[in-house]
Amino acid sequence: MKAMRIIQCGVGGFGGGWLGVVQRNEKFEHAALVDPNSANMEAARRKVAMPASLCFTSLDRALAKVKADAVLVVTPPATHHPLVVQALSAGAHVLVEKPIAEDMPSAMDMVRQAELHKRILMVSQNYRNNPAPHLLRTLLAKKAFGRLVHADIVFAMAADFRGSFRETMQYPLLLDMSIHHTDLMRYITGLEARSIYVRSIHTGAPEFKHDAAFKAVIEMENGVVLGYSGDWTARRLATSWNGDWQIQTRKGSLAWDDSGVTFTTSLPWGKERSRRFLDVPGLSATGQDYSLTEFGRAIREGDQPETSGKDNIRSFAMVQAALESCRLGTVVQLKDILSASR
Ligand SMILES: NC(=O)c1ccc[n+]([C@@H]2O[C@H](COP(=O)([O-])OP(=O)(O)OC[C@H]3O[C@@H](n4cnc5c(N)ncnc54)[C@H](O)[C@@H]3O)[C@@H](O)[C@H]2O)c1
Repeated sequence: MKAMRIIQCGVGGFGGGWLGVVQRNEKFEHAALVDPNSANMEAARRKVAMPASLCFTSLDRALAKVKADAVLVVTPPATHHPLVVQALSAGAHVLVEKPIAEDMPSAMDMVRQAELHKRILMVSQNYRNNPAPHLLRTLLAKKAFGRLVHADIVFAMAADFRGSFRETMQYPLLLDMSIHHTDLMRYITGLEARSIYVRSIHTGAPEFKHDAAFKAVIEMENGVVLGYSGDWTARRLATSWNGDWQIQTRKGSLAWDDSGVTFTTSLPWGKERSRRFLDVPGLSATGQDYSLTEFGRAIREGDQPETSGKDNIRSFAMVQAALESCRLGTVVQLKDILSASR
């Protein structure tokens, strides 16, 4: 079968890594590159040996000149809505980087446009495309250690983004990073969120002007409660980017951190304690490679991908609900966030 032709829109920053992801996937080939930044474009053009005639400064020019099956969007969030709608209207399937959009109305509109044009809209959520979350999801779905009761997710890292937009933005950790964690929460538990309460914290660290830490309580379906805390100014040994996970089931505790996945048990008062590492089966592709493979499969089979825009809007809504909770100081219901944007 011939490789599908994909226009990559945004080739600087994270897009630089995506160039290689497309190149090594035999089901896709670059049809064109798009980026208004000439230095980023020149570096990308050399990297993938793209003729200058197939390099464009805007997506509409590329769509007018080049035949393509799909568009990959790796540009800043504020540009996702116009670029994705443009690509869908031109009949292309779209794979867009997280977060799907800058706000809920834009995200909802993108999903509607994909349905209208009968095209696939997928969001790349690379964190879930890794062996440990796949194992945890499978174990919880099978109730291998009894039913899920509650869990804690802790993300802590001393970041320093001084000079970038994150230094002065409000709620930088929630806005820029938490979509990875909320998507992991839905993926690993197999449950949707019902409500969120977040108390944001200004830690006083000089790296951020606004609140870069928070504590949250998230109620999922089936009465499962998650504790979620984050701190981008933590002066401690950092967690991984996934955060450290402690998942309490009826029979014990599943933990996932940098050292792997463990299962611990004990009887009341710590009697008969046990801890063992679990085998984590590998995946044939991980991260963005997994996303692109899944995108290709969905196009070929006329199926919805795992992280379709329609599905992903629920991970995005959790972040939007968290932001609303910070602003209002109250518990926010997910159904209110999802219905307000229709
Ligand atoms: N999944 C992850 O782990 C991860 C990590 C980093 C960034 N991202 C996401 O990737 C996206 C891009 O982030 P980044 O850090 O690479 O940003 P960036 O600002 O470093 O780079 C964006 C690139 O897009 C180009 N661009 C801007 N507007 C454009 C337009 N209208 N058309 C074509 N190109 C345009 C810029 O010139 C630049 O080359 C964001 O959605 C971000 O959240 C994801």
